[in-house]
Amino acid sequence: MQNVLLTASECSPFIKTGGLADVIGSLPSALKKVHDCTVSVILPLYEDSNINQQEVNFVAAFNVPVGWRNQQAVLYKLIHNDITYYFIKNSYYFGRKGTYGYFDDGERFVFFSRAVIEAIPFLSFIPDIIHSNDWQTGLIPAFLKILQPIADVKSVFTIHNLQYQGAMPANMFYELLNVRDEHFFGMEWNGLLNCMKAGIFHADLITTVSPSYAKEIQYSYYGEGLDPLLHDLKDKLFGVVNGIDVNEFNPLTDTNLYKNYHQSPQDKKDNKKYLQQECGLPERSCVPVIGIVSRLVEQKGLSLVTCMLHEMMQEDVQLIILGTGEPSIEGSLLESLQQYREQLAVCNYFDEGLARRIYAGSDFFLMPSRFEPCGLGQLIALRYETVPIVRETGGLRDTIVPFNEHTLEGNGFSFTNYNAHDMFHAIQYALDLYRTPVLWHKVLQNIYTSSVSWDQSAKTYQSLYEKL
Ligand code: GLC
Repeated sequence: MQNVLLTASECSPFIKTGGLADVIGSLPSALKKVHDCTVSVILPLYEDSNINQQEVNFVAAFNVPVGWRNQQAVLYKLIHNDITYYFIKNSYYFGRKGTYGYFDDGERFVFFSRAVIEAIPFLSFIPDIIHSNDWQTGLIPAFLKILQPIADVKSVFTIHNLQYQGAMPANMFYELLNVRDEHFFGMEWNGLLNCMKAGIFHADLITTVSPSYAKEIQYSYYGEGLDPLLHDLKDKLFGVVNGIDVNEFNPLTDTNLYKNYHQSPQDKKDNKKYLQQECGLPERSCVPVIGIVSRLVEQKGLSLVTCMLHEMMQEDVQLIILGTGEPSIEGSLLESLQQYREQLAVCNYFDEGLARRIYAGSDFFLMPSRFEPCGLGQLIALRYETVPIVRETGGLRDTIVPFNEHTLEGNGFSFTNYNAHDMFHAIQYALDLYRTPVLWHKVLQNIYTSSVSWDQSAKTYQSLYEKL
């Protein structure tokens, strides 16, 4: 039996800013289902972590070297839904509001990565595999190779988003790391200390969250500058598409919805009516509703939407957008509200309940991402029987098959190039099919049979772990 220790900077239900938290929150039980293993998770304990302090048990207090200083870490343990979670507390680094965005984020996660290594003797098992995720835990594979805290331990490093790399001035290597100069090479990129590079370089196995993204990041358009390294290491780079927790996301039981449903376009229409009401749009059951639930940032392709908004609004369609992000994108969407009051709703905040009602009440879910390592929105949309319209990139390409009128295959609509008119044409085609009942019925049938659970991917992780 293998002992797997999973580590990341966020994990549902304790702390979440994005899809990483959903993945770390749902992967352990999926792995346990298919694999003879124990999976534990180790996380930072943030001031904002959603944890009842009474429920956690003290395990140990120990010192963590950070350059010439020692910082104290306190290790806590919590069993939740049969999974053991460890938390590392240090008030100086994590006793702050929010999760990221501080000037010393680099140092905070160097501390956390080293603290995970120092915590190993206090865990109730000896890990066979330490699986870290994204730059915040990128130094863990490096510390494992360099400090060798346990013989024979193997490391897996998963890239969820290559854009954020945890790069710091090179002198931080000397200020924070306590390793010999010769190790700078494996952590340096373009003259900076780079935590993402450290993870990629030292891990025994690298994965990313879809097979297409694993290929894309070997080329400069998607490689965020690290493409030559990823290309060199391609033999240890694999793509495993994310799943979602199908119990957590279930239109039949979701208490946020106006009406629960399963394969019933009629019940879905009732949700649409309520959604239109909630968003202040005319309640018209025949008008197609396009939903967007997204961080409003460049990665997500929102500039294609702002660029084509006026053309889109010439169609008989309603567009509902939920999310926060870059002021220029938010501002441009809000500006158009006045002009299209009957067709456009922009909710520039985040509300999980409304997000679920958008997934349930929309006919289409739009994700025109510039790049998308996996994307969970399109999977949730499929689960809520809403038709995705996506750009063919990364995980969107691997999970959404464009509908083909001749073979009648496909569970969505897509376009290839990052081009606003191409997106618009895909939307127009999707709207045409919406008005062609025989074909629309077929699209829905294909959605009902699309798989979005972890089952297959958990098996793939299992085989990668076994390979190690
Ligand atoms: C990041 C990626 C997203 C992916 C998620 C979970 O947020 O941008 O595509 O689904 O991580 O892996």
